[in-house]
Amino acid sequence: MSEYPRLVIMASGRGSNFQAIQDAIEQRRLAATTCAVISDRANAGALELATEQGIDTLCIEPRHFAHRTDFERALMTAINGFSPNWVVLAGFMRVLGADFVRHYHGRMINIHPSLLPRHRGLHTHRRVLEAGEDEHGASVHFVTPALDAGPVIAQVQMPVAQHDTPDTLADRLLPLEHRLYPATLALLINHRVELRDEDICIDDHTLATPLRLGRDLDDHGRLVEPGGR
Ligand code: GRF
Repeated sequence: MSEYPRLVIMASGRGSNFQAIQDAIEQRRLAATTCAVISDRANAGALELATEQGIDTLCIEPRHFAHRTDFERALMTAINGFSPNWVVLAGFMRVLGADFVRHYHGRMINIHPSLLPRHRGLHTHRRVLEAGEDEHGASVHFVTPALDAGPVIAQVQMPVAQHDTPDTLADRLLPLEHRLYPATLALLINHRVELRDEDICIDDHTLATPLRLGRDLDDHGRLVEPGGR
């Protein structure tokens, strides 16, 4: 069995971020192994992609459970069965309860399509335009019980143009997400960064502002400049 850190990826949709992580593993930019892709939706593209690549998949649908806590308990049992080092939310479109989240404290991360703390929740591209902002981006953060409010590890930024629509923003941001997620995972896997209580520590210093891809962090998850701390 591989000794690489073990990832369980959770996805509800098409799975392009899962695929970006998998590509990084295949191209040896990320020294990890994906043990399973787990979804709450039977028709998730991510499940199909994983199956094609010989990765274990599981679908656990909430409608089969009377209560959310039962669903989450089943999810937890399934995840723990793969003994992951990291639980990676990649477009998992479900709010997870506090007990579930606490169980994976410091080892569950999520990618969110906004420059957190701006625009938690849904419809981020539209909300950036409505707010008249001139920059947009994506964030990778540790998952804590409050939705999209966990400490942000790294972000990628891009300008908003006059003619942008929610769709053009989404189309331009997605390839950047595909660079940000594997790079951030590589950084975590190399033990440069960890969560201590609610603070992100990088080589024993508290990270004051999120690392920025292309400035502080390269695509291989290497720190470019100590000034990013
Ligand atoms: C991405 O935009 C991600 O930021 C958000 O959900 C979307 C998932 O896309 N959390 P995909 O399924 O990875 O293609």
